[in-house]
Amino acid sequence: MFGELVRKNRTKRIYNRSDVSLSLLKELIEDARFSASTVNRQEIRYILVNDDQMCRKIFRITNLSTTHKVDEENRPGAFIVMITKREINLPDSFLYYNLGIATANLTLSASSRGYSCVTLLSTNMEKLGELISLDGEYKAVSVIAVGKSDQEVRTVDLEGGDTSYYKEEGVHIVPKLTADTLIVGTI
Ligand SMILES: Cc1cc2nc3c(=O)[nH]c(=O)nc-3n(C[C@H](O)[C@H](O)[C@H](O)COP(=O)(O)O)c2cc1C
Repeated sequence: MFGELVRKNRTKRIYNRSDVSLSLLKELIEDARFSASTVNRQEIRYILVNDDQMCRKIFRITNLSTTHKVDEENRPGAFIVMITKREINLPDSFLYYNLGIATANLTLSASSRGYSCVTLLSTNMEKLGELISLDGEYKAVSVIAVGKSDQEVRTVDLEGGDTSYYKEEGVHIVPKLTADTLIVGTI
């Protein structure tokens, strides 16, 4: 059911050493390709990365290794780099709306198949483009890590206040505002 899937689709940052096949990554794009986009322009393209050496290099420029102190041995088994042409004549607000929808569908698809993801937008996208030798006509606009994870993540309901995630006895806790808090009006 959708409700279960969306609750299960938590960000994971600690991965085990399982490989992620190109065929699995292709299945995720096969689902994401049905995403809505501004006037159906479909400007997003994907580069699928599961080469171990390249995954190591990408891992090192994400904040998994710095801010989140994830050990290299717990790096994700794959990355999906989302790219667009530099000149697409589309305001960033539209582009990032489209990226959000594609990301949601892609990560839900991964969760439904027993894989986990983390969106890594804080990555230096110019550096990422250079790492993967991206054609200068294109730019990297997002990157999603994909892998198998045993990390325990739980959500807790929150009526308001601090939404920061935290650790409790080794479990990653993600506070989620209740529907009553989110709905600020009915007309
Ligand atoms: C647009 C976007 C950018 C994000 N960028 C990063 C990032 O650079 N590094 C990271 O560790 N997590 C990143 N995240 C993951 C969020 O921190 C995560 O979604 C949030 O803590 C809520 O957890 P949940 O996904 O399990 O609901 C990003 C998420 C989104 C939607």
